[in-house]
Amino acid sequence: MTRTPLSRSFGRAADRYESGRPDWPEAAVDAVGLSADSVVLDLGAGTGKLSRVLVSRYARVIAVEPLEAMRAVLEAVVPDAEVLEGSAEKIPMPDHSADGVFAGDSFHWFDKRRALAEIARVLRTGGALAVFFSRPIGPTEPAIDGVHELLERHRRPREHPMTRIDSGEWLEDFSGSPFDTLRELRFPFVQEISHPQMLDYFASVSWIAALESDERDALLDEVGALLLDTMYRRSWETLAYVWRRR
Ligand SMILES: C[S@@+](CC[C@H](N)C(=O)[O-])C[C@H]1O[C@@H](n2cnc3c(N)ncnc32)[C@H](O)[C@@H]1O
Repeated sequence: MTRTPLSRSFGRAADRYESGRPDWPEAAVDAVGLSADSVVLDLGAGTGKLSRVLVSRYARVIAVEPLEAMRAVLEAVVPDAEVLEGSAEKIPMPDHSADGVFAGDSFHWFDKRRALAEIARVLRTGGALAVFFSRPIGPTEPAIDGVHELLERHRRPREHPMTRIDSGEWLEDFSGSPFDTLRELRFPFVQEISHPQMLDYFASVSWIAALESDERDALLDEVGALLLDTMYRRSWETLAYVWRRR
């Protein structure tokens, strides 16, 4: 049986994604510097983790997401967002119709050159492109080293698109694009997470969500058995990259 491609695996774990993934720090959105009357696009919106912050700040939020299962959660949780089926490579919006484009933990899945051309098309001159990534930093309390060791043993070597982000290689895709004046910002935050939510977090990790059902469920049973506490404290950091469109 063929495994689900990594980029589509989120649709197999939409509810668990919503439960286990952290929210976005509001300060990261505010640092982009758009006014309250802005029209903004949340690209690769998933279950709307970022859209819910955007609707609390901007006049109009359009959330574009390719996977139906993710959109179903998004529509239920963030009713004030306008949810559209689409992708970064084919954005269902007219030219120069957005003041800001946000991508929260989604940009690494895009075909960068095609996506940048589309983002440049829908953004007005002077508009902002904000690319956010959140990653755990520092140890979880209480420690979950046993879970990490277990997952390292199971993870098969495969190219994950985040490796191009970690290496900085992805910024090369911006050369020749109409985006400049890059600002890089960091926002640390803490997630208080229950045992079931921690398990949901791991179920939503793309390579685990992509496993065949039996293999995935057996692995998550093992993870659950290693999580001995009822509450955890995870330290995260949001990396924010913000460009202006010329
Ligand atoms: C890690 S989730 C992030 C979801 C959400 N932005 C958040 O803040 O939680 C990545 C999302 O990107 C979407 N995605 C993958 N490839 C995409 C593409 N080419 N265009 C737009 N979205 C894409 C996935 O369907 C998934 O919902």
